[in-house]
Amino acid sequence: MSLQKVTVKNIIAKKKKGEKIVTITSYDYSFAKLVDKSGIDLILVGDSLSMVMLGYKNTLSVTMDEMIHHTKAVSRGVSNALIVGDMPFLSYKVDIKDAVKNAGRFIQEGGAEAVKVEGGTEICSTIKAMIEADIQVMGHIGLTPQAIYEFGGFLVQGKTVEAAKKLVLDAKNLEEAGVFAIVLECIPWQIAKLITIAVNIPTIGIGAGPHCDGQIIVIHDMLGIFTEIKPKFVKYFGKIGESINRALVDYRNEVINGIYPDLEYSYEFPQDDLIEINEWFENVNIDEEARKFT
Ligand code: KIV
Repeated sequence: MSLQKVTVKNIIAKKKKGEKIVTITSYDYSFAKLVDKSGIDLILVGDSLSMVMLGYKNTLSVTMDEMIHHTKAVSRGVSNALIVGDMPFLSYKVDIKDAVKNAGRFIQEGGAEAVKVEGGTEICSTIKAMIEADIQVMGHIGLTPQAIYEFGGFLVQGKTVEAAKKLVLDAKNLEEAGVFAIVLECIPWQIAKLITIAVNIPTIGIGAGPHCDGQIIVIHDMLGIFTEIKPKFVKYFGKIGESINRALVDYRNEVINGIYPDLEYSYEFPQDDLIEINEWFENVNIDEEARKFT
């Protein structure tokens, strides 16, 4: 597959051309490299790493420094996909200047090309300030996991007429503020369809049905590695967790039973010198020799 560097402009153009946008999360060098090779358009270094990489119970615990650390690793593995850094809890809603500085760290230190923020109309002035600082921004509305305590859990959003209207209007305001795409998470597919019609920028769905311009999914979910929670929208495209487990049990059994490593996986000492080293070993006082080196 011959691949080309994806830019924000390419992502926007895909909507105009009616081409689906394929995006996914990644958090480290090796996975990012595999994702990049697959031709996926955009990699989000999601704050979901708080749960799937660091083992926290939600996304609120991950810090700016941890996000930058993982973004750097992803950047080292990617040549083509657009890299978006996910701004963590408290990094952009307290103070606009801090928000711009933190967004800038994703670009300057992390090697990301854009950032993602959760929220609607209420964060449009922050988004505008980031864009004025030449930082590309992706929006995220619906179930915004940084607000789970406000929502009362990981719950589908936009299920009443009022809530659905608010989502449509938030999307319009985010577009006006200058975001290049909007993630729609866990909202009824009919509302995601309306939003997708209402805005000229791409909508990227996760639990938002088939009519979005693109899709995103957490890589550890779709590979069947993180199976503790399985929202309705998660499809396992692989059972990698099971294969890893099988491989680890095989490895353990082979080591215990002396099967691994056999000579196929071992290095050879030069045949010509083998007699000499064995003679030396049999005739030398090892303790005395060793002491000469101390
Ligand atoms: O953090 C994340 O992985 C996300 C996606 C699920 C959109 O925000």
